Amino acid sequence: MVDQQARTGGDRRPTEIPAIRWEEPPEGPVLVLLDQTRLPAEEVELVCTDAAALVEAIRSLAVRGAPLLGIAGAYGVALAAARGFDVAEAARALEEARPTAVNLSVGVRRAQAAHQAALARTGDPTAAAVAALAAARALHQEDAEASARMADHGLALLDELLSGGGHRILTHCNSGSLVSGGEGTAFAVALAAHRAGRLRRLWVDETRPLLQGARLTAYEAARSGMAYTLLTDNAAGSLFAAGEVDAVVIGADRIAADGSVANKVGSYPLAVLARYHHVPFIVVAPLTTVDLDTPDGASIEVEQRPGFEVTEVAAPQAAGVGGGIPVAPLGTQAYNPAFDVTPPELVTAIVTEEGVVSPVTAEALAELCARSAAG
Ligand code: MRU
Repeated sequence: MVDQQARTGGDRRPTEIPAIRWEEPPEGPVLVLLDQTRLPAEEVELVCTDAAALVEAIRSLAVRGAPLLGIAGAYGVALAAARGFDVAEAARALEEARPTAVNLSVGVRRAQAAHQAALARTGDPTAAAVAALAAARALHQEDAEASARMADHGLALLDELLSGGGHRILTHCNSGSLVSGGEGTAFAVALAAHRAGRLRRLWVDETRPLLQGARLTAYEAARSGMAYTLLTDNAAGSLFAAGEVDAVVIGADRIAADGSVANKVGSYPLAVLARYHHVPFIVVAPLTTVDLDTPDGASIEVEQRPGFEVTEVAAPQAAGVGGGIPVAPLGTQAYNPAFDVTPPELVTAIVTEEGVVSPVTAEALAELCARSAAG
């Protein structure tokens, strides 16, 4: 079940906006989400009392972005366990809610494994639910720490690759505190540059069709006091041609073993533009986004979203729901992949919490993952 409650906006900084939190009121535990479909117009919280409500929130993009999907998935398992639902069934439904961001299954499986292990050890469902929640909390905390480390590595890389005078960074989609336990992935790098006085401008792609750039990244950039400018996705080419972009910095939903990067649709054209204009194309993602079981880009399942997201312009609060204003004749078919895949040869570097992979090769990626696993 899902409940909604409005809350005031105020002028909290991005890190103070909890995209997700676990609460335990007397009626029983709940997962509270900041409904991202309503931003920036309203800050409304969705209160999920079961995994089914969370699945719906994931599908509608009320909660979204790879790392946050992982955290949400883990809490979803904990919620099912704490409320006495069938944990295996909830885990299956959560994992299947969206296919591309591998973090979702990583989070779900981690909490489910903790639940199963505790149940096998103690035979006590309450202890197992506590273990699932502990696993979700640990993932949440680790993601915050990873975010801070990616920001440090990413800023150091920018400083190394670019000459002085301030960085002009182009980003796509949304990758800040709204998708993370911390300050995000790509956006956290831009934020670190801003705090260090080395961000000249953040160019924000609006990110058609659901406008994660315009609605969410601009919202976070404004709150951070960054110099930022919003552009339509198809204005990026002329911006590169004018020599106004020093680096493209984006997040990722899944990185295959060969270094192929799935991210919000529109990322691949930016990589092509970046290569043509000799601009670094940098991907920032935690290791939970690297999937060594997916061999290459062609093996990544790309989510196809409903056509109405393209044929209609939705009011922000209706995004993902339909009922928007038609911008195409009734009955028009739409091609609406949520993500595209950038081949490794177009990626200058992958920045993770454990360090930077550059050049991007299967061997270098595997080595970084092995080093991290070895502790
Ligand atoms: O469809 P969304 O809004 O979940 O897509 C999100 C993105 O594509 C982000 O760029 C990606 O998750 C990386 S940000 C941490």
